[in-house]
Amino acid sequence: MLEVVNLSKAYNVGPLGKEKFYAVDNVSFHVADGEIVSLIGESGSGKTTIGKMILRLIKPTGGKIIFNSVDIQSIKNRKEYYRLVQGIFQDPFSSYNPIFKIDRIFEMIREEFYPAITKEEWSKRVKKVVEDIGLNPSEILGKFPHQLSGGQLQRLLIARALLIDAKFLVADEIISMLDASTRIDVLNTLIKLKEKGLSVLFITHDLSLGYYTSDRTIILYRGSIMEYGDTVKVFKKPLHPYTKMLLESVPTTQKVWSNSYISLHGRNVLPSFCKFYDRCPLGDSTCKNVSFEKFEESHFVACVKVTGEGEHVA
Ligand SMILES: Nc1ncnc2c1ncn2[C@@H]1O[C@H](COP(=O)(O)OP(=O)(O)OP(=O)(O)O)[C@@H](O)[C@H]1O
Ligand SMILES: [Mg+2]
Repeated sequence: MLEVVNLSKAYNVGPLGKEKFYAVDNVSFHVADGEIVSLIGESGSGKTTIGKMILRLIKPTGGKIIFNSVDIQSIKNRKEYYRLVQGIFQDPFSSYNPIFKIDRIFEMIREEFYPAITKEEWSKRVKKVVEDIGLNPSEILGKFPHQLSGGQLQRLLIARALLIDAKFLVADEIISMLDASTRIDVLNTLIKLKEKGLSVLFITHDLSLGYYTSDRTIILYRGSIMEYGDTVKVFKKPLHPYTKMLLESVPTTQKVWSNSYISLHGRNVLPSFCKFYDRCPLGDSTCKNVSFEKFEESHFVACVKVTGEGEHVA
């Protein structure tokens, strides 16, 4: 369904804007039909940048994104693309036009995407979808966005994607604003939708949410993938020293790890070196020109230190 091929995004930085900073650096992965793939990485690792490139909100510097066998940059009809591919972001407030009530916002979706459906039929669908995401239509539909909580608005964004009948969802930290019980509801909604064929790129920095939700997991660090594979395999047998560090730094399954690791060794990461070189306890001069190796079926790692047994050579 969706294939990301050698995707990069560079920003000009430095005093004269002459240096390049790669927020996303040569990233490749795919998401199959009906699959939930977690994109996990600490703050600043490039997750949102990848999501925004998939949603065509920012333009890649290199590489391409293929959706249903078509390069998305070549799709002229944006509306058709957004009928199939929808995004839900961290901050739900910014996704709504504050001057319209929720029922009007949903009616505008009909006008834009499904003008052939009658208002009555649409209204029935809206109510059903709002109930499906665990909200009461009579309490919600007559309100303005500012009269609703962040969690309600976030769930309404999922309802919006459902109404549009999107096939691919970029879900960027969508449960950050929800309380624990609502989180489970929303995650279960996503899992139900997946069973109906929806594909999801589930962006999170919360390992436990990724584990609960996804079929496959991608571990991103400073814009590059360190390890990816079946979620259970990545979590049960983490191979990359970075993945291991992440998992070991989560004392309970509920804890969100912070971005507070300090550089362990004070090394500089040279261009051909592994991005984790400066923080890796195993880093040495061999840690360069690293490519992905298949460790087992559906489990890949980019680390020269991993042996065939999944141990590390010092
Ligand atoms: N317009 C820009 N110019 C320069 N650097 C940028 C720009 N936009 C983003 N970045 C940088 O790109 C990197 C990746 O940002 P991104 O928002 O993708 O991270 P993230 O993984 O989503 O983080 P978080 O978990 O905090 O949401 C960050 O270091 C950020 O500072
Ligand atoms: Mg982000």
